[in-house]
Amino acid sequence: MYLSDKQKKILMLLSDGQFHSGTELAEALGVSRSAICKQFKSLSELGIQHSAISGKGYRLDYALELLDLTTITQGLSQEHQRLISILEIHDSINSTNSYLVDHAQKQAASGFVCFAEHQSSGKGRRGRTWVSPYGSNLYMSILWRFQQGGIAATAGLSLAVGVAAIRALKQHHINDVGLKWPNDIYSQGKKLGGILIEVSGETDGPCSAVIGLGLNLFLPDSEARTISQAWTDLTKVIGSVPISRNQLATTLLSHILDIVNGFETIGIQPYLDEWRSYDCLQGQAATLYIGQQQINGIVEGIDDNGLLLIKRADSTIQAFASGEVSFSGTIV
Ligand code: BTN
Repeated sequence: MYLSDKQKKILMLLSDGQFHSGTELAEALGVSRSAICKQFKSLSELGIQHSAISGKGYRLDYALELLDLTTITQGLSQEHQRLISILEIHDSINSTNSYLVDHAQKQAASGFVCFAEHQSSGKGRRGRTWVSPYGSNLYMSILWRFQQGGIAATAGLSLAVGVAAIRALKQHHINDVGLKWPNDIYSQGKKLGGILIEVSGETDGPCSAVIGLGLNLFLPDSEARTISQAWTDLTKVIGSVPISRNQLATTLLSHILDIVNGFETIGIQPYLDEWRSYDCLQGQAATLYIGQQQINGIVEGIDDNGLLLIKRADSTIQAFASGEVSFSGTIV
């Protein structure tokens, strides 16, 4: 357990964003004021930032709406609920992806969904860490099984999931968002979220994919110190407009389920034009890094298999399946 019951109760009381006096909190929890003070010290150590002002009391520095199983489940359509075998919300976990990769190996059913309030070892692409402080962002993974076609059946899945993420954000009127190949969620030239898909199985039979999505809603600067990429969060993108974590989690899950459900039959093709309309690299001068190799050119979008097209100085266009793209010389 990441937070004690007392700490959770304090957070519930403070979730209205108002100041609450130490006396009021002490009474509500049936403890002394100094015990409340100690609880706030440990909340700070866990990265939950708050203000303590004498004469006013305590207030959280950002709105905290914890994820709730009932709210998320009730927000899903019957059809989406039927696609889910298990839905779990963890207070803290090493990584929602690692957890479901373990379960995939233990024959867990397709449609296993896992959210967490905090990840102690959140994973990004290319061995990076995904910074995952408590209660302020979204970290979710879905285990999905593909019956035939092997690992090749999942080609382009990460691009399609990117489309699902943008659809969800747009449904919440967050329009200033796009995709950076292969599947970074971008806004105003900075990374807002990312997708990590871990596939295992046979080359020619059943396989499983763990689809992980991390989306920054409020990422305190103190937590983001270690991030080497330009990053942003929804609070910066939409200002102070309140956004419900539970509603956004439900919308993201619904759109991802829509896409993964039919993917084995229809593949990437139906999503290509939409992906292209969200492409924030299109027409940009960029560098693609593949290991030690650097390829400079103008990004010409993606081909029908989702490969990145780069126009070289000699006007030839080459397609690339992997690599890390940067705008203007910095890896982003
Ligand atoms: C990226 O590097 O862009 C991919 C980031 C993926 C992060 C998410 S958070 C939920 C899931 N669990 C993880 O450990 N990683 C993914």
